[in-house]
Amino acid sequence: MKNPFKIIACDLGPNIFWEDVLLSIKLLFNPKKNGIEIKNLEEKFSQKFGTEAISFNSGRTSLMAILKSLGLQNDDEIAIQAYTCVAVPDAILWSGYKPIFIDIDESNFNLDPRDLEKKITKNTKAVIIQHTFGIPAPIKEIVKIANKYKLFIIEDCAHATGVKHDNEYLGKFSDAAFFSFGRDKMMSSVYGGMVITQNKILAERIKQYQEKLEFPSKKWIIEQLFYNPLIFVIVQTYGFFNFGKIIHLLSKKLKLLSKAVIELEKKGGKPEYFPKKMPASLARLALSQFERLDIFNVKRLNFNKYYQEELRDLPIANPAFNYPLLRFTIKTNERDKIKIFAQKFGIYLDTWYDQPVAPKGTDFNAVGYKINSCKVAEEVAKESLNLPVNPNLSKKDIEKVVAVLNKYYAKS
Ligand SMILES: Cc1ncc(COP(=O)(O)O)c(C=O)c1O
Repeated sequence: MKNPFKIIACDLGPNIFWEDVLLSIKLLFNPKKNGIEIKNLEEKFSQKFGTEAISFNSGRTSLMAILKSLGLQNDDEIAIQAYTCVAVPDAILWSGYKPIFIDIDESNFNLDPRDLEKKITKNTKAVIIQHTFGIPAPIKEIVKIANKYKLFIIEDCAHATGVKHDNEYLGKFSDAAFFSFGRDKMMSSVYGGMVITQNKILAERIKQYQEKLEFPSKKWIIEQLFYNPLIFVIVQTYGFFNFGKIIHLLSKKLKLLSKAVIELEKKGGKPEYFPKKMPASLARLALSQFERLDIFNVKRLNFNKYYQEELRDLPIANPAFNYPLLRFTIKTNERDKIKIFAQKFGIYLDTWYDQPVAPKGTDFNAVGYKINSCKVAEEVAKESLNLPVNPNLSKKDIEKVVAVLNKYYAKS
């Protein structure tokens, strides 16, 4: 039966189903740091990708583990694209290196190889290829440049777990890749991450790095396990006399709701829960999501195709990429008006990435981003609007998003 009070939101537990809520509650009775679940999760990834797989408590720690295993010198430069999350330059800074920002290609939200070649210096030692929203970056061109300048290649698959390109999984085109199981990623255990690599020596070093880390505290694990039940109640009751909305505000105020990025990180600071191992309870949540990842991705692909078809005649830039997307991102100079309009119908759209280094409030100086250094990324960030392709939505929900967009343009 359809719940009339439920909202459609890009960012509130896009992959959460009843079974995830029940599992989180069960795990809350016995939150575990160590356990067999961690190895089980690593084995599943190792089998799926045909690589070594080493888990961590986040994409951030995963990236640190790769960087710290490459044998780089302090202050070496790592090239990353602008139009990214502060988590990426932060993980580089926390590892003792320097992020340099490369502009993007506005047609695919990914790193522009031409700008990469312009910005490489003798200190640049690695390039991170981010597959933004699950759209594959121009891998061949980037690899060619990386080989010319002898750069390590790391794939940031935070948005692209289980996405295939040219019959191969993203994550297999580089020296090492990492995934994120953050709350709003392709599969989610609220926090979590995995490194994959085909290079045995590198894998050994990353495993040694993992062994030396500690687990996050029990308190932190419990906080993450609370997230799914809390967010589920919020989404389901949002429209019931604002009940869910009030719980959302209250739980944020009382710090009950775990945050993806905290204020300290926006200034380049490192919370004490990075870098850390993947705890067993979150690995259990991730295992359950992993079993459904391919089903989630088929849904994401179908919703994406539906939007492409139905939005063709609207005055928005509508990307035609036949991949399972994390978010279906359109470009429009009316994005703030559309966002407000859609809320009246219980649809909460999002604006990833609304700055060259997001989220709002990020201190560009602290993370080494210079205004005007990536002009395309800055422009695209002003116009980006994400439509949901959440696997926990129904076709009817997606039809509603399309209908509301049509309504907006019919009135204006
Ligand atoms: C592109 C990108 N890379 C890396 C990360 C970091 O992943 P995590 O949140 O698991 O640390 C994020 C997180 O939002 C991201 O969007």
